[in-house]
Amino acid sequence: MSRKIFIAGNWKMNKTAAETKELCEALKAKFASFCPCKAEVAVCPPFTSIATAVEALKGSNIKVGAQNIHWADNGAFTGEISGAMLKEMGIEYVIIGHSERRQYFGETDETVNKRIAAALKYDLKPIVCIGETLEEREGNKTEEVLAKQIKDGFANIAAADMAKVTIAYEPVWAIGTGKTATPDMAEETHAFIRKTFADLYGAEVAEALVIQYGGSMKPENSKDLVAQKDIDGGLIGGAALKADSFYDLVANAAL
Ligand code: 13P
Repeated sequence: MSRKIFIAGNWKMNKTAAETKELCEALKAKFASFCPCKAEVAVCPPFTSIATAVEALKGSNIKVGAQNIHWADNGAFTGEISGAMLKEMGIEYVIIGHSERRQYFGETDETVNKRIAAALKYDLKPIVCIGETLEEREGNKTEEVLAKQIKDGFANIAAADMAKVTIAYEPVWAIGTGKTATPDMAEETHAFIRKTFADLYGAEVAEALVIQYGGSMKPENSKDLVAQKDIDGGLIGGAALKADSFYDLVANAAL
């Protein structure tokens, strides 16, 4: 079973529209001769930069995603963005349940679940983030935490929809800290995540599921991480903010 490598940049709250244009043009040039057969590549800018990114990346092999989606079709939800709004922008992916949203904005497994359903309804591909904190890892709770995030996050999500889903395993203690899980440590957890999905949806769905690693992935470590059997790519924060480092990270992992 060969899964396609998928590497996405999560720009978080970085890049104005003008900066987005500059970065996307640099990325388009860098990736001009990169065969999409090697890896799926996407960038997820802030909402206000999506239109600019879509326009600037036209004719390239780089896809665009959003960083969040609300579960309602429309209504009195000040500050939120719906699936219809995102779909109309011409994007393909949406990140859901990032640990920063869980930590700072009250995201729970239940709201993650509702957002996944909304993304699927609007034919957007969810990149669903899961991961344990340092305290949970040190307390030997990693598997318990991940199992709950998966079970509750995917309640009532049909097996037939799982082909559109990507999982991003992001140990919270590795995000933006420069501390990466070692390839062996990450692989052990990825294998556990795949097994948990196999228990829920069967071996075939689990084998096809793309599971990204996220947390201080950079050009220097992307090759060793993605070489692991159950690590199928990455969700990249800091190293996605510069064309050179994002390209090198992808090239090292996928070429
Ligand atoms: P860093 O790559 O900056 O550690 O961020 C990872 C992340 O949170 C991607 O979603």
